[in-house]
Amino acid sequence: SEKVTVGLLGLGVVGSGVIKLIENHQQKLAHQLGCNVQVKRVLVRDLDKSRDVDIEEDLLTTNPDDVLNDPDIDVIVEVMGGVNEAKDYILKAFTSKKHVVSANKDLVALHGPELQDAATHNKCDFYYEASVAGGIPILRGIVDGLSSDRIQKVMGIVNGTTNYILTQMDSEGVSYENALKEAQELGFAEADPTSDVEGLDAARKMAILGRLAFSTPVDLEDVEVSGIKGIELEDLQYGDQLGYTMKLIGYANFDNHELEINVQPTLLAKSHPLAAVKNEFNAVYVYGDAVGETMFYGPGAGSLPTATAIVSDVVTVIKNMRLGVTGNQFVEPHFKKELKTSDK
Ligand code: NAP
Ligand code: HSE
Repeated sequence: SEKVTVGLLGLGVVGSGVIKLIENHQQKLAHQLGCNVQVKRVLVRDLDKSRDVDIEEDLLTTNPDDVLNDPDIDVIVEVMGGVNEAKDYILKAFTSKKHVVSANKDLVALHGPELQDAATHNKCDFYYEASVAGGIPILRGIVDGLSSDRIQKVMGIVNGTTNYILTQMDSEGVSYENALKEAQELGFAEADPTSDVEGLDAARKMAILGRLAFSTPVDLEDVEVSGIKGIELEDLQYGDQLGYTMKLIGYANFDNHELEINVQPTLLAKSHPLAAVKNEFNAVYVYGDAVGETMFYGPGAGSLPTATAIVSDVVTVIKNMRLGVTGNQFVEPHFKKELKTSDK
């Protein structure tokens, strides 16, 4: 039967999840798309590494051209991380008229608009749902679900690693170092977890969310950041005695063209809905003029939850191919912005 062919860039935590999900849900995918989805080539760094997924050895390659120049490949899934190489490969994919799905918030936060321009220029799709809040369909929620509303505020927990660390420290008394180690072993942390614990990963996600929610240009430098490094067990215990829980909160408010956007550790009353969000789970509160309060909750990191977002993007790309249209998660910036810095 007919098939759509995917090329993967990366086969780590997320890439392995993508392979498993496509295999395990092949019937469901074939049923809704009327075709099979097949992964044809996979770019890795090390051919000899043992993998967490069954895959034919001859699918693996260390040469990006084997994936990017394969005329049979329709969709590129970028799950390798990093900025420069990933950007280069995605731009090459667009030039070869291949659609791209990416989980790379570092890249989208820094170069999203430029990549979107390249996609549009080449009449290609560019989707990146997995770049924010793992398995939660938050970008779709904002771009499609709330497209008729004027969003004023987005806030929440958008980093699974730090939420895992804080939960383990707070409820289990695990040390910061051990909790971070566990988060790495469970596949939640970035290759370099500094970006998680220093708040940069959350800042990248807030920049992407702000851009899409408020239809205004948001740069990564606009986001004021402080992370959870240096927070001690005693700080959490002290908060606990007073009825508070520490969370790393991303906050973005757009009012009268003034943008306030930051990431910082925040003490929340235990009765606050975000205080109940544990471990690698994320929650994003979105306030719109008309809809009022909405809250999106789910696993913010991890192999299969993140793969769900990616494969759902692949499904959207295939549906667009069928309809002969191109699509994306982009919202044309049409509001001017002035930055408001929060009082420290
Ligand atoms: P990972 O486990 O470190 O996997 C990265 C994969 O990419 C590995 O297979 C690696 O090859 C390959 N790779 C990296 N650089 C390469 C290069 N220059 N050339 C060829 N192959 C290269 O990372 P991950 O956790 O899957 O994350 C991947 C992306 O998804 C990142 O952008 C991350 O921010 C994002 N993301 C992750 C999660 C999560 O929960 N982990 C959630 C949402 C988004 P080898 O295996 O041979 O080393
Ligand atoms: N390192 C990220 C996190 C992965 O912990 O949230 C999901 O984006």
